[in-house]
Amino acid sequence: MKTSSERLADAMEQTRRKWRLRIKAEAAVAEATINLDQFMAALKVVEDDHQLVLEKVQALRNALCCLSEAGEQQPHQAIAILKDLSAFFGARFAKHMEEEEKNLFPFLEQTVPEGGSLVARLRLDHTAILNKRQEFADCLEIAAELMDDGLSRAVLLDLVAFGLELWELLDAHAHAETQAIRQCMVCRLPG
Ligand SMILES: [Fe+2]
Ligand SMILES: [Fe+2]
Repeated sequence: MKTSSERLADAMEQTRRKWRLRIKAEAAVAEATINLDQFMAALKVVEDDHQLVLEKVQALRNALCCLSEAGEQQPHQAIAILKDLSAFFGARFAKHMEEEEKNLFPFLEQTVPEGGSLVARLRLDHTAILNKRQEFADCLEIAAELMDDGLSRAVLLDLVAFGLELWELLDAHAHAETQAIRQCMVCRLPG
């Protein structure tokens, strides 16, 4: 049989335990909210960028079609547009990929089932895009030097081929990333 002071001590210990649990639960909710806020902020940056990227990807395809139609003798206008687009993918888009790797990919990695392998694939896409963009830029530079005398058929075909390969990589990556973000948002839904 416990004495009244022992019963009081037990009751106080129970109360302390309840408070400790409550503080822990509140801290977990606060942490989840901060993580969710960070995720939403990262998502907003990515979505804003993606609007612009999609426009540029579409513009790349259109400019390649124009170049094919213009042929070896009249490539000037299409090449000027392609140079601007190549500069965009080499600078602004490269920065976008860096931002994703820093702010978005950790969320995907932690949230989506098999997030590690998904993020590894997205990172490989980024590297492949950068490499292909460089090949395209090199080919564009050669074409720009030669174009006043008219391009050879071989240079024109190379340029269109590199451009289309870059377009395919960008398009496939945009789809994979959108799918991954959707999956991440579903996983983060409460309950
Ligand atoms: Fe992206
Ligand atoms: Fe990306």
